[in-house]
Amino acid sequence: MKHNDGFIKVCKNSELKEKIGRRFFVDDVDVALFKVDGQIYALNNVCIHQKAAIIYDGFIEDGKVTCPSHGWQFNLKTGKVPHGVKGLDSYEVKVIEEDIYIKVFRRELRW
Ligand code: FES
Repeated sequence: MKHNDGFIKVCKNSELKEKIGRRFFVDDVDVALFKVDGQIYALNNVCIHQKAAIIYDGFIEDGKVTCPSHGWQFNLKTGKVPHGVKGLDSYEVKVIEEDIYIKVFRRELRW
């Protein structure tokens, strides 16, 4: 369901548990959604290392998510690897009343 400005409803806030990621397909984009200290973060779910679609299952600590496959870490907010410019796409999040909306883009649209 589209909301204004291209934001799409993903789920209810109450459906997310602290530090337990969930995977959603939003407009054909594979998304990992996290709630940490009440903040919602949305990153691309496909690890840039070996393309494992498993980021949602990563361990959360110190504002980062760790890929379960080989331990690469990504900043929850920016998606970037520590000290690097590369990273996962990160998506804007809006919480309106109880509902979580995100705005996805496809990687190829950025070029
Ligand atoms: S696939 Fe994520 S660290 Fe290797």
